Amino acid sequence: MKKVDVLLGLQWGDEGKGKIVDVLTPNYDIIARFQGGPNAGHTLEFNGIKHVLHTIPSGIFHEKTINIIGNGVLIDLLIFQREIDKLQERNIDATKNLKISKKAHLILPSHRLLDSAYENAKGKSKIGSTLKGIGPAYTDRTARNGLRIGDLLRPDFIQKYTQLKNQHIEILKFHQFDYENHQIENMTFAEYETKWLSVIETLKKFDLIDSEYYINQAIKDNKSILAEGAQGSMLDVDFGSYPFVTSSSTITAGVCIGLGISPDKIGKVIGIFKAYCTRVGSGPFPTEQINSDGEKLRAEGREFGSTTGRPRRCGWLDLPALQYAIMLNGVTELVVTKIDVLNSFEIIKTCQQYNYNGTLIDYLPFENEENLLQPLYEQIKGWNGNINHISTYNQFPENMRNYIEYVENIVKVPITIISNGPDRIQTIFRSF
Ligand code: GDP
Ligand code: IMO
Ligand code: MG
Repeated sequence: MKKVDVLLGLQWGDEGKGKIVDVLTPNYDIIARFQGGPNAGHTLEFNGIKHVLHTIPSGIFHEKTINIIGNGVLIDLLIFQREIDKLQERNIDATKNLKISKKAHLILPSHRLLDSAYENAKGKSKIGSTLKGIGPAYTDRTARNGLRIGDLLRPDFIQKYTQLKNQHIEILKFHQFDYENHQIENMTFAEYETKWLSVIETLKKFDLIDSEYYINQAIKDNKSILAEGAQGSMLDVDFGSYPFVTSSSTITAGVCIGLGISPDKIGKVIGIFKAYCTRVGSGPFPTEQINSDGEKLRAEGREFGSTTGRPRRCGWLDLPALQYAIMLNGVTELVVTKIDVLNSFEIIKTCQQYNYNGTLIDYLPFENEENLLQPLYEQIKGWNGNINHISTYNQFPENMRNYIEYVENIVKVPITIISNGPDRIQTIFRSF
């Protein structure tokens, strides 16, 4: 029996999960997303192609691999349709190797309006949500009001849909939200809804499955499975910088809930982090650099959101946060990405400790108000050279190897993969 390996982000998302899942897919029979929804944007680059996925697992470009959208994922029908169309443009017929859990919940157009209404109501303390309806749809799941993919097959689906939509409209009216004229992606609610409903027939062409049975049978059949995370551990609903988080469990424990497998079926946990840090949206970010270093990281790393296009906040590597994420997830090996973004920095900084009200600490305290933690930085010499075409670890400049081994020595988990560019081929496997 093979166990289910997991690949997930250890920071605030956008660590390069899509790229690395695509690189690892030839080793797996099945790639399964277990949480999140179209708030995710996973970028893949190969053969001159750049492709961003939101709901569909990043193994979709490999014909022989089955991709599963697990029960823990949220689906907006219209965004899903667009993803299918974009794949079609690349001659990928996703109906062939994509299966969808009947228990995955739907994001209704009115969930997106609620997301906007709640954010507006928060005023200055808004989360900076992607406004894809994630929070309201997970809320309905927990409140036992939600609609699921399997419900699309029921003859009374439209009745149930209308019932839930009307409940949402009552809440929107309470918030005095102009739901009829509010634009969702340059469409009115009515226009978005018409398009959304028209996708139901497309959905029926897919293999809609009881994914928990499918995956557990695949485990018994010795199939190799990789669970693909979305967002990152620091956005986890329990352990992230609450309330500036997403609404799902982004950590390894979420794999069990989001795919229906027991904890003893978890195998390797591959944790992925950038060689520095980024964050989109609001919330504490102790090592953020609102200065020329931050601007340089953003420019060199092209740090603009794959889903919203917003500029990402940039800063130095936060080692206490990384160690926290490694602890929560039981990470067995690490992937570092975007090391090439540091190519032209004379000095690279990392934070090992924070000054917290005059005391030095190396953990994340409960209080997480912005600017409460003052990072203390170690300085490491940069390598000042282009390493994007290097293909073996030993060819890397000594200072770069020093940086990687420095991090490894602190976190005590091996870094087995190094990504030195966005393309599939810019990936170095390290053997020990
Ligand atoms: P994900 O959400 O974790 O899949 O990450 P995103 O796709 O949102 O953001 C990562 C961005 O960095 C994408 O534009 C990738 O193409 C790019 N990328 C991934 N790995 C590397 C790398 O090693 N170097 C550089 N320069 N870019 C990378
Ligand atoms: P991937 O999978 C980066 C952030 C949002 C916001 C907060 C809550 O591409 O790494 P939500 O839409 O969930 O209500 O937003 O979480 N966020 C992400 N940041 N990468 C993501 O996904 C994200 N998904 C959500 O910016 O701060
Ligand atoms: Mg992303």
